Amino acid sequence: MTPSGTTSTTAAEPTNRTSGAQPAWEVLLPAAAAPARRRGRALQEALREAVRAGRLASGTRLPSSRALAQDLGVSRGLVTEAYEQLVAEGYLRSDRGSGTWVGGAVRTGRAATPSVPHAPSAPGSGTVADFRPGTPDLSLFPRAAWAAAQRTVLAELPHSALGYPDPRGLPALRSALAAMLSRRRGVVADPDRLVVCSGVAQAATLLGSVLRARGHRDVGVEDPGSPEHGRLFAATGLDTLWLPLDDEGLRPEPLTRSGTRAVVVTPSHQFPSGIAWSAERRGMLLEWARSVDGYVCEDDYDGDFRYDRAPVGALQGLDPERVVYTGSVSKSLAPGLRLGWMVVPESLVEEVVERKRTMDLGHPALDQAALAHLVTSGGYDRQLRRCQRAYRERRDALLAALDEHFPGTTVTGIAAGLHVIACLPARYGPTRRFLGAAASVGVALRALEEYGTARPTDGAVRLVVGYAHLTPTTIAAGMRHVAEALAGR
Ligand SMILES: Cc1ncc(COP(=O)(O)O)c(C=O)c1O
Repeated sequence: MTPSGTTSTTAAEPTNRTSGAQPAWEVLLPAAAAPARRRGRALQEALREAVRAGRLASGTRLPSSRALAQDLGVSRGLVTEAYEQLVAEGYLRSDRGSGTWVGGAVRTGRAATPSVPHAPSAPGSGTVADFRPGTPDLSLFPRAAWAAAQRTVLAELPHSALGYPDPRGLPALRSALAAMLSRRRGVVADPDRLVVCSGVAQAATLLGSVLRARGHRDVGVEDPGSPEHGRLFAATGLDTLWLPLDDEGLRPEPLTRSGTRAVVVTPSHQFPSGIAWSAERRGMLLEWARSVDGYVCEDDYDGDFRYDRAPVGALQGLDPERVVYTGSVSKSLAPGLRLGWMVVPESLVEEVVERKRTMDLGHPALDQAALAHLVTSGGYDRQLRRCQRAYRERRDALLAALDEHFPGTTVTGIAAGLHVIACLPARYGPTRRFLGAAASVGVALRALEEYGTARPTDGAVRLVVGYAHLTPTTIAAGMRHVAEALAGR
């Protein structure tokens, strides 16, 4: 089964009416899988039909075009065009600033309900608290330190440094990163095998296309796992195979049975479950990689943030010839910088560098030089310490808010990262009702089941709750609003 296109959902997007209507993404998935030249039309037809048949109930707020495009794996332009077309036809209605809604002129198959959009409980976007995971606090970006680094490198770099950069990256940055990764994460990082790229996303794309060229047909992804992994590797022509996890890491038998020779994993703080893989499973994975002459892509996406225990070292340190280590500044500085790295086994390095060269002729030199300056001057470590303090405080605020408003909740994955898994007792469920209540008061949340194939039957509400980008006050207010909405107050 390929998770690309069946992964994250927009169920946590505000909808003021959820009962009876499926979330938009589900009914649109077949259209998104249509051949490229028919996809736009197919999307419009599917949306039209879903509204007509009442599968998207009148009054349902549609996800933003960006979110829907992401979830469906189609271009944002296609979604915008479909929305505009259906607004013009009267199936949808667009309220400036507050989004796109099902309603308007169409008569739906379901008993029509008045299509009054939910009045947002906060000005602007209408979102009181957005607990969806994945974003650091962008206001913590060290603007002054970054500006100083840029000024310094502009003053000091020779003209020659402004030519096409080495596709592996600036030597100064590769050395600085190699030293930092070895010190902080236990990575065996030879600067000659470190490739600077535009984030874990490009690292995955580079690796996927190299593996594809070598004859690999598929790659295993964690179930549950990051929707991005499936999409990125699928875009390189590899099939993606869900491989189930338990609370220690990937389960050995399905991995062996899958027949694949490559996997992408998040062993230090599994996304989204938050577990740290056990030492035994780490060993098992490496043994497996050796036995099939395969590769492990390690996504160390939030390895820098540890709160209550010693950091779990990178898997790569255990076998640098089998593990491709990937990371970026997306959580530590800002995802908008598009700056990351991969440490590549000797056997793959030439091919990866050649792909990087043909893809974009190397990464922008000035940003690389600025990051090298930030790392060597100690500014990067200072930034990590600053974020760590803020994020620990926010995590504690979240734990306190869950405890106060949803007693009986168990929270896991709290030792590290920027999100936790909250498992609320069944009395708060079912999940869909919970998410609907949250959305009705402008609180965006994601269910764990949106990240994988498992559909638990115990009735508990399992949420992936991001907290790093929210202040303690917003966290407390967000959870209080949801509790009040559920209680009907
Ligand atoms: C688990 C995980 N890894 C990697 C990425 C992409 O990271 P980058 O910004 O480094 O490309 C994401 C982004 O959503 C993610 O959730």
